[in-house]
Amino acid sequence: MLVVSVLARKGGTGKSTAVRCLAVEALKAGRRVVVIDADPQPTCFRWGQRRAAAGIPVPLVVVPAPGGLAAQIEGFRAQGVDLILVDTPPTATPAVNAALDSSTGALVVTRPNPEDLESVQESLRVASAQKRRTGVILWQSPPDKRVRAVALAREALVAMGADVCPTAVSASISYPYAYAEGLTPQEREPEGRARAELAEVWGWLQRSGIMAIGPYDGGASKVPDQDAGTQADGTAKRVRAKTSSRKELVA
Ligand SMILES: Nc1ncnc2c1ncn2[C@@H]1O[C@H](COP(=O)(O)OP(=O)(O)OP(=O)(O)O)[C@@H](O)[C@H]1O
Ligand SMILES: [Mg+2]
Repeated sequence: MLVVSVLARKGGTGKSTAVRCLAVEALKAGRRVVVIDADPQPTCFRWGQRRAAAGIPVPLVVVPAPGGLAAQIEGFRAQGVDLILVDTPPTATPAVNAALDSSTGALVVTRPNPEDLESVQESLRVASAQKRRTGVILWQSPPDKRVRAVALAREALVAMGADVCPTAVSASISYPYAYAEGLTPQEREPEGRARAELAEVWGWLQRSGIMAIGPYDGGASKVPDQDAGTQADGTAKRVRAKTSSRKELVA
């Protein structure tokens, strides 16, 4: 099982959005994926609740269990979960360190602007201090590929020694629209540019090893029956996902 923490010191870079989109990519690949929303502003958790209310109970989205992240992650391992994505707050809090402690890898999400890039170095330092395999994704990039900001940002990241995803994820209004509907852009606009870009990002994460989960074992039928859910108020809640739920995802 892989556990990947998504981080950035800067607020609003797209961490939570990336977690949701990559969780859905994992579901599309037939994987059992769980999101742990370790941000006190539980954006992903709310999104998960919106989906569950709409009859789409995957991915399972939970908040950190009172017993600690490590024990919670072990619980999911015992259930045969393939991938856990941990969303983290944009601060240097114990929550981020705890997430990295329990992670196999890390992803730093940054916009291609100097303000964000200045803080990437610190995120890379924290992740590499813990010897976590770490990648960087450029997010909310200008859709017009002629704009030099992306190339300049990539150069700056490479100079930091970062492993940068070759696909920069474009800014698109379909991301906030999808969030409002409890969806991701891949699900909302199956023919859209976001879907193609996110598939490329997923491919890179497999190749780079950061999220290379191993050979597909026919796990689509095993996506459901994930439990150990925890509500935002910290109370335990059992969540059962339906087998049919994956059919609602874009294939
Ligand atoms: N590719 C994108 N194109 C356009 N808007 C985006 C994109 N990705 C994210 N957004 C929007 O940017 C805002 C911030 O995104 P998000 O909440 O994912 O950032 P974050 O890094 O998790 O923020 P925080 O630091 O507060 O946790 C949201 O309104 C989201 O809908
Ligand atoms: Mg967030």
